[in-house]
Amino acid sequence: MVFPETVERESRREVIQRELEWHDQEGHKRRPLDRILYAPPAFDDVVQAGVDFLQGEPGAWVLDIGGGEGKQTLTLAETGYRVISLDLSQAQLAEARERIEQKHPGLNVFFVQGNAEELPFKAGSLPRIYGKAVIHHLDMPIMAQELHRVLPDRGRATFAEPLAYHPLIGLGRLLTPRLRTQDERPMSRSELLTFARQFTCWNAQEAYLLAPLAYLVRPLPAGEWLFRGLYSLLRLIDSWLLRLPLLRDLAWYGLLFLEKGGSEE
Ligand SMILES: C[S@@+](CC[C@H](N)C(=O)[O-])C[C@H]1O[C@@H](n2cnc3c(N)ncnc32)[C@H](O)[C@@H]1O
Repeated sequence: MVFPETVERESRREVIQRELEWHDQEGHKRRPLDRILYAPPAFDDVVQAGVDFLQGEPGAWVLDIGGGEGKQTLTLAETGYRVISLDLSQAQLAEARERIEQKHPGLNVFFVQGNAEELPFKAGSLPRIYGKAVIHHLDMPIMAQELHRVLPDRGRATFAEPLAYHPLIGLGRLLTPRLRTQDERPMSRSELLTFARQFTCWNAQEAYLLAPLAYLVRPLPAGEWLFRGLYSLLRLIDSWLLRLPLLRDLAWYGLLFLEKGGSEE
């Protein structure tokens, strides 16, 4: 296993501090946008693909890295996993806790404030790891090393990450710079694949090429039913279009399915 050049961990401290402060103090500014982009049924299929890949025993531990306000943490816990939701931000963790306690007070969820680049867990202790929209906040070589450290042999990790070149999403980003941290950086598909190749077994998929057009109607009065119809139609068309390799770089999301092998160390 060869890791690309790793930056000095010390040089990451300032970035981590900025990320923490932004998500503690300004993360709430994104909520109106997040309601449009992420409220169900948006992303249900992408999250489910990750959950399906994990295939842990019922009651197995899953780490949700950068769990944020707990949407996927809740899905993982409802699936029957014991979930550790790790995030830098206490404010995000508090929201996640409230969301989960309101919906299912008895679920097995533990909340840990911590840095994904220095996971506070022993080597080989986490057989299943989930993450959505988090790697693009992190140093990728450091994250790959941390994953290799905490996953046991045959451990699995899955991520869904925004990619850099979707035209409509790119325009949206340009118009709303204050709704995200200064250090996050959606990656190109080739960067995502470089990350994936550091695992013995890996698979990648792309999602959402035309489907984001459906968001344009969602905020309109009575736009929700139109959004739902249009979104599922465009998802279907995307599933055909994304078979063409040339279009995959333009997708909004990249999905990674990773397994740590037993023979590489
Ligand atoms: C875009 S949000 C995604 C939240 C959630 N996974 C979702 O998709 O709804 C990114 C999350 O990663 C967290 N984060 C950023 N850098 C982190 C780090 N170094 N360690 C742990 N969490 C981090 C942020 O606090 C934030 O909650």
